[in-house]
Amino acid sequence: MEQYAIKGGNPLVGEVEIGGAKNAALAILAAATMTDETVLIENLPDVRDTKVLIQAMESIGVIVNRIDRHTVKINAAHIHDLTIEDDYIKKIRASYYLLGALLGKYRKAEVSLPGGCNIGLRPIDQHIKGFRALGANVRIEHGLIITETEELRGNHIYLDVVSVGATINVMMAAAMATGKTTIENAAKEPHVVDLANFLNSMGADIKGAGTDVIRIKGVPKLHGSEYTIIPDQIEAGTFMFAAAVTKGDVTVKNVIPKHLESISAKLLEIGCEVEESDDAVRVVAAKPLGHTHVKTLPYPGFPTDMQPQIVVALGLSTGTSIVTESIFENRFKYVDELTRMGANIKVEGNTAIIDGVERYTGAGITAPDLRAGAALVIAGLAAEGVSVVDDIKFIERGYEDFHIKLQSLGAQIDKVNTERELQKFKLKVG
Ligand code: EPZ
Repeated sequence: MEQYAIKGGNPLVGEVEIGGAKNAALAILAAATMTDETVLIENLPDVRDTKVLIQAMESIGVIVNRIDRHTVKINAAHIHDLTIEDDYIKKIRASYYLLGALLGKYRKAEVSLPGGCNIGLRPIDQHIKGFRALGANVRIEHGLIITETEELRGNHIYLDVVSVGATINVMMAAAMATGKTTIENAAKEPHVVDLANFLNSMGADIKGAGTDVIRIKGVPKLHGSEYTIIPDQIEAGTFMFAAAVTKGDVTVKNVIPKHLESISAKLLEIGCEVEESDDAVRVVAAKPLGHTHVKTLPYPGFPTDMQPQIVVALGLSTGTSIVTESIFENRFKYVDELTRMGANIKVEGNTAIIDGVERYTGAGITAPDLRAGAALVIAGLAAEGVSVVDDIKFIERGYEDFHIKLQSLGAQIDKVNTERELQKFKLKVG
């Protein structure tokens, strides 16, 4: 099984190109099935999640031509099935974005009910509420969500919780409904805005994305488009915190600094220097990190997907910090792994109380989920000695060439497949 082998202690220094946003790409790939014309998508991140969603789309007859590693041409004129098989949903929950897309275009879709995952229950009641408000019948049978209707009619929908997925799914269905839809209490994440911009480039009529009220005028047809996905603010934030934790000097390039404001603000608060330019942000960690308090919130608050990364940094800071996870109910599972590296963190419910320690020491650790896995790699980069990270398939779901980008910044990290390769790494790093 593939692992990351890491020898900590090197400050990360240099520049790293940030890829396309995974969570924007998943929504945009699904939305590309809503037209019979060809769609060209650029700056697509080459990660496991996008690969799996493309496979799910191909399984129902969507033609996907990969022009290069980050560019695909999609044509959904010959979809022959409206049921997305279970094994795709098991691999990535976001396959359920095809529900909203196919319901909007064909008035019918069937997708396996996604289970919970390592960070929480992750219900989809708000997605279902939205589809029903648009006039669709939605029933759950044999583990499938089956939704269909003769007519999809615009409506006024008030989401009970701020949900990225529900906002995205309902926006897609409403884009081709008859009449007007208002989504209140909508998510404002950059990838919600990116999807709205993409749908509008296909002829949709969506206003207000990025605010908590999105107004949609349904259109009968969408046309082809050429679209470039926004940079991934979570990948960028992960490298920014890697700079902080390793006392480095890293510039993340090809980013939108505005999307990183809450991350930059926290890095400044704990003593890093942060320099913004048009499409890059430089983080310099010359001083010992200070403590702070953080609560994860929907955008533009501090992102839940950056919670493990800031906890790793605060674990090495001076003083006591408090991190509250307000989005998911089980997103501190990785703290047990961090404790094995010497962290001093007490988790009570959805709050972590962190007493900073001098240093982490290398250990064998397991990635419980995508972002926690990336955070544990960062901990390994700062730790004394060698760490081995298991279950890196989680990390590769959302980080393209993660270890290669880290190597380019001076990290001593390799992907190893066997005990022998691990021993070779240990001999190499000494
Ligand atoms: C998206 O998940 C992201 N995934 C997550 O990123 C991210 O952590 C999350 O948004 C929050 O930003 C994708 O975009 C593919 P939500 P999503 O619906 O849409 C509750 C990663 O690392 N809720 O905004 O599932 C839910 O339980 C992943 O890339 C309901 O109660 O998140 C949670 O507590 C991890 N009912 C809260 O809302 C619903 O119908 C926010 O969830 C839907 C959600």
